[in-house]
Amino acid sequence: MVENKNILLGVSGGIAVYKACALTSKLTQAGANVKVMMTENAAKFVSPLTFQALSRNPVYIDTFDEKDTKKIAHIDVADWADIVIIAPATANIIGKIAGGIADDMLSTTLLATQASIYVAPAMNVHMYAHPAVIQNMQQLEKWGYHFIEPGAGYLACGYVGKGRLEEPEQIVKVVQQHQAKSSILTGKKVLVSAGPTREQIDPVRFFTNRSTGKMGFALAEAAANFGAEVTLVSGPTNLELSKNNVRRIDVTTAEEMYEAMNHYFLESDIVIKAAAVADYRPKQVFQEKMKKQEGTWQIEMERTRDILQSLGEVKTHQFLVGFAAETTNVLDYGKNKLQKKQLDAIVINDVSTEGAGFGGDMNVATYLNKDLQSTELALSTKQEMAEKILTLIHRDMKDEAK
Ligand code: CTP
Repeated sequence: MVENKNILLGVSGGIAVYKACALTSKLTQAGANVKVMMTENAAKFVSPLTFQALSRNPVYIDTFDEKDTKKIAHIDVADWADIVIIAPATANIIGKIAGGIADDMLSTTLLATQASIYVAPAMNVHMYAHPAVIQNMQQLEKWGYHFIEPGAGYLACGYVGKGRLEEPEQIVKVVQQHQAKSSILTGKKVLVSAGPTREQIDPVRFFTNRSTGKMGFALAEAAANFGAEVTLVSGPTNLELSKNNVRRIDVTTAEEMYEAMNHYFLESDIVIKAAAVADYRPKQVFQEKMKKQEGTWQIEMERTRDILQSLGEVKTHQFLVGFAAETTNVLDYGKNKLQKKQLDAIVINDVSTEGAGFGGDMNVATYLNKDLQSTELALSTKQEMAEKILTLIHRDMKDEAK
């Protein structure tokens, strides 16, 4: 899976640089085109000439050392790469990426690339456990970087513990396996809805709900990482997509979401409704701000259209997935929604469980397909859960095609 791929190997300055030589060799043996970019500190450990010989390509270190005057090297390499592997990744380079710092060629190129990035950290055991490093790694993970965890063992600094760069063979294996997974949705068009909707009462007031959109955004990004062409229809959220490989359509009301979902539905292969759509909206929208008065204020509400159900009624080839947030009889209610809305699968959140549902970064859920085969999705980050859900959708679509 790395054959003929363009791999940029970013080497930062730690004692494990010597292992990056073996990694360069393994990657070229696996058929990849490898270019190496070193930090100045990395070049103090091993001569760039070693990497040049192993990769059979010039080695990049200095942003201003332009080898071809027609090109800007760091942008050119950033665009050239299909995959970036940072090995060894020091606490410094991890911190720089997390902070958006671009003060040398490697950090600048990392900001410019759209490639999938794998980070293989190597550092002292206490550095690896430092809250700053942990926070920076979590930040990168949120942006879709993939980590290849260091092994535990004897470290060059004399300590024994976690921080040793993973073995080159293992790094190649992890990247290969991940790449194989990354193409499971190639050629598929995926439509995802995310976030809450907002139903206006008057110019300053509206009804909404606690959805943040995190699960839907994670699904859209994971689908794009799996090779799909993705459209995300999002209600009002504070979230930004980490890459620009997803088409984003912003909507506010349930009615606008209905229009947008129907607009893209026909061309889609997989449709996932992770949005928390308002079931009701005020029957009357006041054009002027309502002034307070004595006594109570009653607002009459009317039903919005059930977008998912309407899509279930007209679907042809689309694999349609809904979400359900339940507190009691979780599986039964989920199953009823699956059947009533003619879904191919439903993801059921038991929102009474700690860690599940709205707002947080984690989720725990059950995936139920239309054959009523259920899969427990244990507590994990919304990113991890998104990958699991898409893998199950891919499995069920393959079974249907048989
Ligand atoms: N949904 C929708 N349009 C609506 C309401 C919900 O498309 N107007 C979708 C959501 O995006 C989600 C699923 O339907 O995928 C949730 O099902 P729903 O029956 O609306 O759940 P609840 O609102 O929790 O319903 P209930 O009050 O019946 O439990």
